[in-house]
Amino acid sequence: MTKTGPVRTAIFPVAGLGSRFLPATKATPKELLPVIDTPLIQYAIDEAKAAGIERLVFVSHPSKAAIERHVMDDAALRADLQARGKAGLAAALAETALRTPEDDVIFTFQHQPLGLGHAVLCARDHVLPGPAAVILPDDLILGEPGCLSEMIDVYATAGTGHLVATMEVAAQETGKYGILDTDTGTAAAQGRLFPARGMVEKPNPKDAPSRHAVVGRYVLDASIFDDLAAQAPGAGGEIQLTDAIAKGIDRVGLAGFAFSGTRFDCGSKAGMLRATLHLASQDPEYAEVLEDYGLAPRVAPAA
Ligand code: UTP
Repeated sequence: MTKTGPVRTAIFPVAGLGSRFLPATKATPKELLPVIDTPLIQYAIDEAKAAGIERLVFVSHPSKAAIERHVMDDAALRADLQARGKAGLAAALAETALRTPEDDVIFTFQHQPLGLGHAVLCARDHVLPGPAAVILPDDLILGEPGCLSEMIDVYATAGTGHLVATMEVAAQETGKYGILDTDTGTAAAQGRLFPARGMVEKPNPKDAPSRHAVVGRYVLDASIFDDLAAQAPGAGGEIQLTDAIAKGIDRVGLAGFAFSGTRFDCGSKAGMLRATLHLASQDPEYAEVLEDYGLAPRVAPAA
């Protein structure tokens, strides 16, 4: 692999239907569903900012304008909170919100949910030169450092190609994920980086080439956009990101990265509940609630 430029852009595909969460997502975008009090999109933005991303590109849908309202600063709301003696809340909102011109933020639309690959392609005209990161907000990854920070660090030393976040799943779970065909025998296989020969979508356990499952963080070589533009619809009639990644393997390379954090599938109700319980278990404020349901908090209750 040869060296490439820095990863300057993060793409947030947020134009999907969120059908698994209906009716909650009829009027509220899935990406705004909260874990305790923080919407999924906010965790994703915080992760990108912590990774030193310069430009944030949101690929949204006209019916999901609430995402932009959440993401961007709301000076009137902050002034109202200040006037009501809630300066702390106003300051917290100011800290997490994006504002122009200080922040480089772009909202663009995917008018029809034609697939994740198509959503990423919709960002093409807005990415800065070099590789681009893609963050799926419904894959919540908690940990310090953040998953994208870890990936960008590894990418800087490992070189070009496509880098995908992976986690090891149980054999019976392989049918739910894209699974890497890892090349662990090569000299390049080191530590948490796994060069791959290919990727298999949702294989039966007996056919799975490994247990390294791809989850929602990617650092993609700039050639992904040409490959996406040439990509025919795949599974479900959608333009699949994984198909376009697979197309570039021989040319630019592919590796999986076993991040250190914990991932929650917040695109599913069970994953969302798990994430909520996980965060609640670490906050003394919820110790009593958890005990009421026979769950032990991980931190001591507040005195
Ligand atoms: P998902 O497949 O998990 O989201 O896509 P979905 O299609 O909205 O959800 P379900 O399956 O109907 O419940 C992961 C991310 O990619 C975005 C989604 O908004 C989500 O953030 N996405 C998906 C798009 O932006 N466009 C698409 O065409 C598909």
